[in-house]
Amino acid sequence: MAWMRLDRVLSGQGVCSRREAGAMARKGAVTVNGRTVRSADQKVDPQEDVIAVNGRPLLYKEYLYIVMNKPQGVVSASRDPRQKTVLDLLPARLKRRGLFPVGRLDKDTTGLLLITDDGDFAHRLTSPKKEVYKTYVADLDAPVGEKEVLAFAQGIVLEDGTLCRPAGLLPEADASARATVRICEGRYHQVKRMFEAVGRRVVGLHRTAIGNFVLENELAPGGCRELTEEECRLLRKNAQEGQM
Ligand code: URA
Repeated sequence: MAWMRLDRVLSGQGVCSRREAGAMARKGAVTVNGRTVRSADQKVDPQEDVIAVNGRPLLYKEYLYIVMNKPQGVVSASRDPRQKTVLDLLPARLKRRGLFPVGRLDKDTTGLLLITDDGDFAHRLTSPKKEVYKTYVADLDAPVGEKEVLAFAQGIVLEDGTLCRPAGLLPEADASARATVRICEGRYHQVKRMFEAVGRRVVGLHRTAIGNFVLENELAPGGCRELTEEECRLLRKNAQEGQM
């Protein structure tokens, strides 16, 4: 059993603020196991008790797991005083306190971004030790070839002397200036700096996968949805076993 104050449960689930929870309870809008409660500071077990607001039962979720197709021009931060963040793009039903992006994508980078309020889950996916590889498609100012593939596989040294872990580089077969990159670290501007180290400039970057989880084409830029339990399980498994 995990007892929590009713107002905390309602605010934590994004139903309303704690103050509003108190007001709603006083109005008789909240029931616990079918009984109207008049005070929101009473303790409930959100896993067991049936809590309803205005007759609508609350589907309690301890944590939220969201996949987003990040569009260009928004920052992947929880809040920013000046710029639009990925959290601003969430629909009201997925907004709640404590959410944050799992790792960062640059403002101009697009593609797969996970958002959660589960710190342990995020840590597992971002820690280089867990070896969960992130896959990016990079558009470059000039094609890459065998020399660059070898340099990525051996571990790129960034301009500040940092040695990166071995990374996968797969140039597009038609000799276009596009390549797929796989890295298990998340250093600041890492992919861009890795290409700079081999004399290329990234002109477009899109993340397509985290571990074995691939961003589906159906999710439009800025679109998001909750992960299924199976998808969460797969991602946790990737973090447990490492994945290449
Ligand atoms: N590497 C980068 O350079 N930018 C990103 O957004 C992600 C990885």
